[in-house]
Amino acid sequence: MKSIVVSIAVAAGLMVAGSAMAGEPAIAKGCKACHNTASEAKLVGPGWVAVGKKYAGDKDGANKIAANIMAGGKFGWNFGQMPAKGGNGKLTEADAKELGAYIAGLK
Ligand code: HEC
Repeated sequence: MKSIVVSIAVAAGLMVAGSAMAGEPAIAKGCKACHNTASEAKLVGPGWVAVGKKYAGDKDGANKIAANIMAGGKFGWNFGQMPAKGGNGKLTEADAKELGAYIAGLK
């Protein structure tokens, strides 16, 4: 029963992420140590608005960003290395997809 409730909550979260009015995912909190989430300005890593612009016009951008968040590494910014899952071991595939969709929509 508990897992059903969790599944519904996750599905509702994905629906919110898919809408144009989506707010910043709550999970982004842990990312802010290294990222400006509302501007292009570099912190340790690139501002997420700059990432959204990098993938502008790329239909698969949200998925590519989600995959990069899960894997970590270097994505051509030359700012160093991002830890896998942003260093958050609890980050799930669904979290990464929500973040990817959110970041791809920033401009
Ligand atoms: C310890 C610092 C650190 C944390 C924490 C961190 N990042 Fe990063 N991130 C980086 C760095 C550094 C880069 C740039 C790597 C490079 O130079 O290519 C980066 C790059 C990125 C990119 C660009 C990917 C691309 O395709 O260009 C995204 C998106 C991103 N981070 C999302 C996240 C998310 C989401 C979280 C939280 C779950 C997170 N980051 C947490 C350091 C961090």
